[in-house]
Amino acid sequence: MLEEKTNDGRALKGECGVGHTRWATHGEPSEVNAHPHCSDDMNVIGVHNGIIENYQELKEKMIRKGYSFYSQTDTEVLIKTVDYYYKKYRMGPIDALAKTMVRVRGSYALAVMFKDYPGEIYAARKDSPMIIGVSEGESYLASDVPAILQYCRSVYYIGNLEMAKLSAGEAVFYNIDGDEIKKPLTEITWDAEAAEKGGYEHFMMKEIHEQPRAVRDTLGSAIHDGAIDLAAAGLTHEVMRGVTQLHFVACGSAYHVCMAAKYIIEDLARLPVQVDLDSEFRYRKPILRSDELVVIISQSGETADSLAALREAKAQGVPTLGIVNVVGSSIAREADNVFYTLAGPEIAVATTKAYSTQLAACYLIAVQLAKARETIDSERYAALIAELEALPEKIARALEDKERLQWFASKYAGVHDVFFLGRGLDYAVALEGSLKMKEISYIHSEAYAAGELKHGTISLIENGTLVISIATQTALYEKMVSNMVEVKARGGYLMGLTSSGHYSMEDTADFTVYVPVTDEHFMASLAVVPLQLMGYYISMARGLDVDKPRNLAKSVTVE
Ligand code: F6R
Repeated sequence: MLEEKTNDGRALKGECGVGHTRWATHGEPSEVNAHPHCSDDMNVIGVHNGIIENYQELKEKMIRKGYSFYSQTDTEVLIKTVDYYYKKYRMGPIDALAKTMVRVRGSYALAVMFKDYPGEIYAARKDSPMIIGVSEGESYLASDVPAILQYCRSVYYIGNLEMAKLSAGEAVFYNIDGDEIKKPLTEITWDAEAAEKGGYEHFMMKEIHEQPRAVRDTLGSAIHDGAIDLAAAGLTHEVMRGVTQLHFVACGSAYHVCMAAKYIIEDLARLPVQVDLDSEFRYRKPILRSDELVVIISQSGETADSLAALREAKAQGVPTLGIVNVVGSSIAREADNVFYTLAGPEIAVATTKAYSTQLAACYLIAVQLAKARETIDSERYAALIAELEALPEKIARALEDKERLQWFASKYAGVHDVFFLGRGLDYAVALEGSLKMKEISYIHSEAYAAGELKHGTISLIENGTLVISIATQTALYEKMVSNMVEVKARGGYLMGLTSSGHYSMEDTADFTVYVPVTDEHFMASLAVVPLQLMGYYISMARGLDVDKPRNLAKSVTVE
């Protein structure tokens, strides 16, 4: 739609511009609220990611100063405030931005252009992510590195309450007092090809297929000569022996990884693990002790709630570890230690390969904790590492079944509700399968711990309701089958997902999917693959935009 509107001959010509895909906070998604916003005389124009908390107060002040407003956005207020100080003090853009920053409460990554300064973009940042890239004769500004990877590899990380002036091929930085400051330039080593579709129709499908490589690289970064070494992430033998409890905190799919981590670590290493959503953790006044460890999992490293949770932990003086994909992101910089997942740039909004590498990171932590705490012997340690090393090839095998899943997905693309059931680790997988389904296919889906079924949920099952049951854990297998029988008795249509060998699944399920066998602690890495493919194929069958589902952003940089 934007393309149609801007390619009809009315598009402005020029070599310098700002744009922003708005995620509506103040004001509905509409043309009038779309960025950029401008001053009344159109001399100052800008885009903004974040939320201005005192925008109402500032708006009233600007109205008193004679400004009028056309949108419901806080961004328009911000731009008009910049314009006000620019005109009042006549000391140039940096001074106008600095004066605005002192008066504004909230978070922002702001990019502004001034008619009097053609060919230049002025930027300011507080709490919302922003990076600046430069290459031969060109400069770029974005929320994160993947956005500009196709165009340049040299990046500056602009700090909180800092400003920048971008011109062709150059960026100059300033502190809040308007004094020039120097910043190091970082070279991004991510492969540019990694940010292209490479023959796949969608980034999501490409990224699903990159999982064996991504998991192999992530595991390989810590496994050397048959042993795991996490010292670089601050997890030395002493730390692992001394820690009394872990807190795993994240949002969305990364939270589902935390759920899996709890089952795996508690079982293997017999260490208590608390799991929280970042948005809850940050406000629930968590009780944290200095002999504990807070682990924040985030692909982007920029999720606003995750960053706030990290800061809460740091404020309480607890050691923190970030499991992060984007190098140099805010969480990577602020956490005491970082373990980098090596997924490479993830472009599709729905995460797949980043999720899988986050799981891999948790396996490494679980196995090494178990070794340090002597809950497993050397033989078991070696066997678990061998299983980990075999995992990428098994993920590749799980991908081979895609034609059957495509067929099944095309048959069920019209359903209104889907239920995902699992017990133990399979419940964590069910949560992720359900999210993959709903976020890209817009089909209502829910995940339940199968034992909860008869406490209410079963009343939703009627003739033909699609129920996807995950049963990879041998100790819980029979209980899962009993739950499936209960669903079937009420008319549910059953897809069963299990590992090779559990062939009795076919006696109960209407459609069975098998994944290869591995140590059952690592089963989530295989069981998630058919569920990612299901989400993808159902979305495709419904003719939806798989890579960019409605209402969602790749990194959620506002609260
Ligand atoms: C779902 C998805 C989201 C993210 C969540 C956290 O497919 O991608 O649920 O997992 O927004 O994002 P990060 O990991 O960047 O903190």
